[in-house]
Amino acid sequence: MRLLSVRLIVSLIVGITIVSLGFSYNQVVAEKRVLRSDLERRAEVLGESVAGNVEKSLENGSQRGERALQRLVQRFGSREHMLGIAVYDREGKTLAITPELAPLLSNPPLSVTQAIADGHGEETYLRLATHHAHIFALPLHRQDDVIGGLAIVHDVDYIRAQNLRTWRQAFLGVLAEVLLIVLITLLIVRWSIAGPIAQAAQWMRALRMGRISSRQQMPDLDLFRPIAWEVVTLAESLSQARTAAENEARLREASQSQWTADRLAVHVQTRLDGGRLFVVSNREPYMHHRNGKSLEVVVPPSGLVTALEPVLDACDGTWVAHGSGDADNEVVDDHDRLRVPPNDPSYTLRRVWLSKEEEEGYYYGFANEGLWPLCHIAHTRPIFRAQDWQHYQDVNRKFTAALLDEIADTRKPVVLVQDYHFALLPRMIKQKRPDARVAIFWHIPWPNPETFGICPWGRQLVEGLLGADLVGFHIQSHCNNFLQTVDRVVESRVDWEHFSVLRQSHRTIVRPFPISVNLPETEAQGVDNPVTGADRSALLHNLGVEAAFVGVGVDRVDYTKGILERFRAIERFLEKYPKYQNNFSFIQIGAPSRTHIKRYHDLQAELEAEVERINWRFQSGNWRPIVFLKQQHNHRQIERYYLSADLCLVTSLHDGMNLVAKEFLAARTDERGVLVLSQFTGAARELRDSLLVNPYDIDQTAEAIRAALEMPPEEQQSRMQRMRRILREQNVYSWAGSLITELCELRLDGDRSFEKFRGVTAA
Ligand code: G6P
Repeated sequence: MRLLSVRLIVSLIVGITIVSLGFSYNQVVAEKRVLRSDLERRAEVLGESVAGNVEKSLENGSQRGERALQRLVQRFGSREHMLGIAVYDREGKTLAITPELAPLLSNPPLSVTQAIADGHGEETYLRLATHHAHIFALPLHRQDDVIGGLAIVHDVDYIRAQNLRTWRQAFLGVLAEVLLIVLITLLIVRWSIAGPIAQAAQWMRALRMGRISSRQQMPDLDLFRPIAWEVVTLAESLSQARTAAENEARLREASQSQWTADRLAVHVQTRLDGGRLFVVSNREPYMHHRNGKSLEVVVPPSGLVTALEPVLDACDGTWVAHGSGDADNEVVDDHDRLRVPPNDPSYTLRRVWLSKEEEEGYYYGFANEGLWPLCHIAHTRPIFRAQDWQHYQDVNRKFTAALLDEIADTRKPVVLVQDYHFALLPRMIKQKRPDARVAIFWHIPWPNPETFGICPWGRQLVEGLLGADLVGFHIQSHCNNFLQTVDRVVESRVDWEHFSVLRQSHRTIVRPFPISVNLPETEAQGVDNPVTGADRSALLHNLGVEAAFVGVGVDRVDYTKGILERFRAIERFLEKYPKYQNNFSFIQIGAPSRTHIKRYHDLQAELEAEVERINWRFQSGNWRPIVFLKQQHNHRQIERYYLSADLCLVTSLHDGMNLVAKEFLAARTDERGVLVLSQFTGAARELRDSLLVNPYDIDQTAEAIRAALEMPPEEQQSRMQRMRRILREQNVYSWAGSLITELCELRLDGDRSFEKFRGVTAA
């Protein structure tokens, strides 16, 4: 740093000095020129006037004339800056000279001789003894004859003195500037470079030693901030690598094979064998929103991003999704692509744009007013409109076109289509690219054939799905329902032994892949971060309630989630066990969802009215039975609620899997808390240590709440341990891993060479 300061200062001094002296030099030259021309002009005027007078005196002749001449030169020769005046005859003999000049000029100067000879004025600068002088010489006339010469001699030392003064001022100016600049430079170096560097070094040391871990703890490093961000990312990657390595070693030690993001990445790379992965989903992994002048990136709450990001990351894949953020189109390139994740790009997001009508018909209409209630047995009647169906087909075609565009130059593309928004996609893709391996994962339940039969376009949906090589559901019973439906609606051969369908010489296999969450890889990660009693009080205090026991529920506001039934069970519980009045509060986080649909909009109002009614009935002082938080919360915020709760209520009337149940377990690194779980969720098949309830049975759920609150800590712990073990073994990475493995291991029908189908796609 010292060397840098010295270099900086020396460079500044040299630079400033050269520039300032250059300016001063020009100033001195200009000043000298002005003073000299002024002097020359004055000498000329004076010369003309003295010459006239001298010529008159010389006409008088004799002794009187000489004296008059001497007086004349003395009178004129004593003016400012003058050395004197001398008058010579034609032969150069001195006729008169001022006494001060006499010792300096023994002979007539050359300019006088020259003026006499040429008959006109001459001037010259020369040195006279110690003086620098200017001589202006003029010829003297009588009528037309030259009879002598006149010298007007000025002392020009005053011009030199003036130049010296200017130089001195310039030097002083340069000195002051240099001092000021050195001072400012030193201060800037100290405040903006040396200080932040010292702070950054201290902070990086703490980061390296693991004393701090997050970006939030980053000091204000001014212009080093961009470097600091990179350092944090590097430190995070290192810490993740260290954790993964430790974990790997631990697992090897225990001869287990737990799925991690890293293992999934390596596994998928091997399976794809140079191929690339493509994901299609309606919801995108990153949405861009405009907030005033800045752009905000939002990660929609979804287990999918956690599961699929490591895979796309490992093979530099592409995710095709609906661009639904209001600033999404501001950040894409000409092909509607952008690299994500935004702060560490590793794969491509291809956005597909939908018109308002398309979104209305395909997403709100057919997918969410038709298929969603059709597949969930939650007593909301599906609505099937021909117009919505048309939009659904059009949008499926639109996504197919986008995907075909993405895979156009890819050998062995592997395509994972997600969910009920794209039932027609597998067939559409395969018609153009039979060499692609295509799987569709249906994240919601599949109903029995009778229920499914009410959909007017059921056959087309099933045919669309059977275009896939693999159809995945969360649980076996959804696979069974699907195969029965296939059997019922299309001409095909269902192989119940291998769970596959053969139709028009294309085989589709059907398998369960229970989705899951990411359990922190080491126990220590969570134990380091337990929520204390003080955190819980602070959380309740912020909500304006006081309670000794806390329950939590986290859902999208959806009629399938059984939120109304849950509230009624809480009411029943407080009714049956009044000692919990003033003591138990339930916090419901309800993220608004699909509010554009009337049923969802009405549900929101219904829930609010129910909360109001129950709270009115029981509340007293600072206690309320239900706190309804009607906005989306991020993962970190939700985790605080999970960790503060004595129990979590998941009371879906029907659910493919339900990841809230698993997220609650994953958050409970302290091995405390009880999960009350609807028997109608996919998760209920795995999480047998939860308290299973029929959400329609209000009394049973009320009893489960009491049992949960009164469960001894040891029992809570042993249940938690067993369920967390299941999550550890079957996590989100094993879900993605097995899905991709199964898809990559399938034998595709017939000759599926890339070259053969390239022409088809291009056409
Ligand atoms: C369910 C579906 C997902 C969907 C999610 C959120 O879990 O299976 O595909 O993304 O709900 O719903 P939204 O309509 O907001 O995407």
